[in-house]
Amino acid sequence: MTAIVIVGAQWGDEGKGKVVDLYTESADLVVRYAGGPNAGHTLVVGNEKLIVRLIPSGILRSNARCVMAQGMVVDPGVLVSEIDAVEARGCSTEGRLFVSDRAHLILPFHPLIDTLREAAAADGVRLGTTKRGIGPCYEDKASRRGARLGDLRDMKRLAALVARSLEAWTPTLRALGGEPPALDAILDELAPLAKRITPMLADTSQLIDGALRRGERVLLEGAQGTLLDIDHGTFPFVTSSSAIAGGACVGAGVGPTRIRRVLGLAKAYCTRVGEGPFPTELGGPLGERLRTVGGEFGSVTGRPRRTGWLDLPALRYAARVNGLDGIALTKLDVLTGMPELKVCVAYDTPSGRTREFPIDELATAKPVLEPVAEWSEPLDAARSMSELPAAARQYVEMVEKETGVPVDVVSVGADRDATIVRRNAFA
Ligand code: GDP
Ligand code: IMO
Ligand code: MG
Repeated sequence: MTAIVIVGAQWGDEGKGKVVDLYTESADLVVRYAGGPNAGHTLVVGNEKLIVRLIPSGILRSNARCVMAQGMVVDPGVLVSEIDAVEARGCSTEGRLFVSDRAHLILPFHPLIDTLREAAAADGVRLGTTKRGIGPCYEDKASRRGARLGDLRDMKRLAALVARSLEAWTPTLRALGGEPPALDAILDELAPLAKRITPMLADTSQLIDGALRRGERVLLEGAQGTLLDIDHGTFPFVTSSSAIAGGACVGAGVGPTRIRRVLGLAKAYCTRVGEGPFPTELGGPLGERLRTVGGEFGSVTGRPRRTGWLDLPALRYAARVNGLDGIALTKLDVLTGMPELKVCVAYDTPSGRTREFPIDELATAKPVLEPVAEWSEPLDAARSMSELPAAARQYVEMVEKETGVPVDVVSVGADRDATIVRRNAFA
């Protein structure tokens, strides 16, 4: 019985897609447990690139089955087009992709509300969401209304649930200058999607439990990242779901006693897309260089990602709230040739210097930056630590020492092969 969790330890986009794909080689079941099409997980095999938003990143490996669990919010149109894109690559989803009938349905007016709210919000209040309707859909869930994927089995029941949600949102839509869509039009849009999706619906908690009882290896794939978590992130600049490792238990219906290991994903530097505090953010040519060399543009929205130095207190915080057993350090290759390299080791706050991440004082806290040795050699051909230049090796060792968490994996390029595996989380 082995379930492991792979979770973003920063502000998302840490390279979860790549590392999940890598570990799927030894997994039987890969489960997405939170978020929705706000996620964009990139898989690179040779010259081919695929970005999945809802389907688990294990989909390219035919040995594994994939599950979308009930903690997710699912846009049915996005799901169907994603299935078509995966199938068009010759990768079959039939009998391999299962979707929880309890996951919540993103309705067509959810993205509309998200978009209008973002447009109306003043500077300093705007969240910089992906406008995919994530917030309004989870708001429906927390309000105990809205529809779930299982409701697609019964169009009459679905009509009543959609009508109730639409009625509740109509004043908001009007106040934002929007026009509520007609109920019939929504149902006409949903009917053909329902036909495609209902054959995949399952009690996914039971499916995962069965796999664990048979001794199969289950990989729980996080979306977003620790600092975007609704409870533990930089509130209010967060997403609406539980992005931390504990969210895997809630979102997938797996008991905490079943989790064997938690692997945290961290870039060798930091990025953030959307609004909110980012203390180690770099402006100027160094930040621009990280963005260009790292290809730091949102996989969902194409927005340029904000870039900055590695934040070690934030990583220690992520180690704590996720209970990290290991770290996968990604994009180390992007730091090659940086004219200077710094990391944040502590914060100066009005109450003194701290090694903790001062999550409630980020407006006034100043990061304490320390220089570290640079290197100029390309790293993408390295397959073991001994093949890294000494300064890059020291960088990895510094992360281990500062966080107290072993670095299991070092990623040195976007391709699945460009990886140094020091420990397989399933071993
Ligand atoms: P996710 O949301 O955590 O899955 O990450 P994204 O896919 O949104 O963003 C990560 C980006 O970095 C993608 O374009 C990946 O192809 C790329 N990537 C992942 N690991 C590496 C790496 O080690 N080096 C480089 N250069 N790119 C990487
Ligand atoms: P993956 O899984 C990076 C950010 C948005 C915004 C905030 C709220 O690819 O790492 P939302 O649309 O969720 O209401 O937006 O969260 N955000 C992400 N940033 N990676 C993601 O997913 C994200 N999902 C949401 O940019 O700041
Ligand atoms: Mg992403």
